[in-house]
Amino acid sequence: MQKLSIHGGVALAGEVRVAGAKNAALPILAASLLASAPLRVTNLPQLNDVRTMIRLLERMGVKAETGAHEATLDASGLTEAFAPYDLVKTMRASILALGPLTARHGEARVSLPGGCAIGERPVDLHIKGLAAMGATITIEAGYIHATAPRLKGARIFMDTVTVTGTENLMMAACLAEGETALENAAREPEVVDLARCLIAMGARIHGHGTDVISIEGVKSLGGAEHSVMPDRIEAGTFLVAAAATRGNVTLTAAPVSSLEAVIDKLREAGASIAVGDDTVRITLRQRPRAVSLRTAPHPGFPTDMQAQFIALNAVADGTAHVTETIFENRFMHVQELRRLGARIDIEGNTAIIAGVERLTGAAVMATDLRASASLVIAGLVAQGETLIDRIYHLDRGYERIESRLSALGARIARVS
Ligand code: EPU
Repeated sequence: MQKLSIHGGVALAGEVRVAGAKNAALPILAASLLASAPLRVTNLPQLNDVRTMIRLLERMGVKAETGAHEATLDASGLTEAFAPYDLVKTMRASILALGPLTARHGEARVSLPGGCAIGERPVDLHIKGLAAMGATITIEAGYIHATAPRLKGARIFMDTVTVTGTENLMMAACLAEGETALENAAREPEVVDLARCLIAMGARIHGHGTDVISIEGVKSLGGAEHSVMPDRIEAGTFLVAAAATRGNVTLTAAPVSSLEAVIDKLREAGASIAVGDDTVRITLRQRPRAVSLRTAPHPGFPTDMQAQFIALNAVADGTAHVTETIFENRFMHVQELRRLGARIDIEGNTAIIAGVERLTGAAVMATDLRASASLVIAGLVAQGETLIDRIYHLDRGYERIESRLSALGARIARVS
């Protein structure tokens, strides 16, 4: 199994281009199921999750032509509305096929995703929303089976803010009869990017980016071309890596407006940050200051950046409290960071991090995508070698991470 070997202690310096956003690309690829003409998606990140989503679509009869950072998907000859367990278990985002399939095909069988390394992650709100639009839904042998001759618009209040839930229901509502109002909808930039793609395909959507999205159903959607927004979590991860190593890094093609919460916290840590139209330059020469934070749905601080900030706080001056409010078990990185010498206690859903002067390299194990990113950051500052096992998690969400960090001066290599 491949590992990452990192010899820490180098201040990152240079320029890195931000890749397309995984969590925007996945729903946008699924949206191709709604259209009777090809959807061309550009600025696609080269990631295992993107390849898995395309494989899933191909199994349903979608014709895919893929290039380095693009794919053209033609769902006009859809053959099978089925998302099997073997694919769903490797990527929970496969659930994003449920809404589009039910809406366009009148039927879907999608495996229920199981539990996950960061929490229970139920999909009850996806199911309730489709049922409110008139779908008949049964759970049989681990599969969600949804049928609906034609979905009907409905007013749907989601009592928890859910990103993929909002996306699934927004896609389904595009082909429903009449108007749908999604209340307490997720305001994440990836939801907005999906809405823009759907609008380009002919959907009538208003209010995306607010907590009430209204969708006026249309009979059919056509083809379109859409460039995926840049990845704000990848961008944030590079910024934190630069801050932790006391470096000087410029991001290009950066999603500047969706990085506000992260940039504010990095400034609080002592970094100077210059923001351009699509560039962000970060410089931090002294030891970072500890920064406390609490994760929340957008525009709050993103849960997908929590682990990286725990790594930063591990070497900061002072004590920080980091509270996770979205997922109930998202502190798996803490015990691995302790192996590098971090001083972290957990009380309920809060990690209390007492910054230390230095971390020391050790063998550690990645447990999920963002936990892996925090271990990379810690490895970049630790003295000696850090060897990270199970990096397939990292390859799900970060494109060629080792070569892009090497280009910034990091001593990092993939070893088997
Ligand atoms: N929830 C429910 N019922 C539902 C749906 C969600 O109770 O039907 C709960 C979840 O258990 C969780 C909370 O609502 O406690 C929020 O979960 P959400 O549904 O928003 O998460 P998600 O849509 O499954 C997406 C991202 C995650 C990111 C979260 C939160 C994608 C493909 N995934 O997941 O990204 O952490 O939103 O922002 O968009 C990652 O990229 O590493 C990642 C995990």
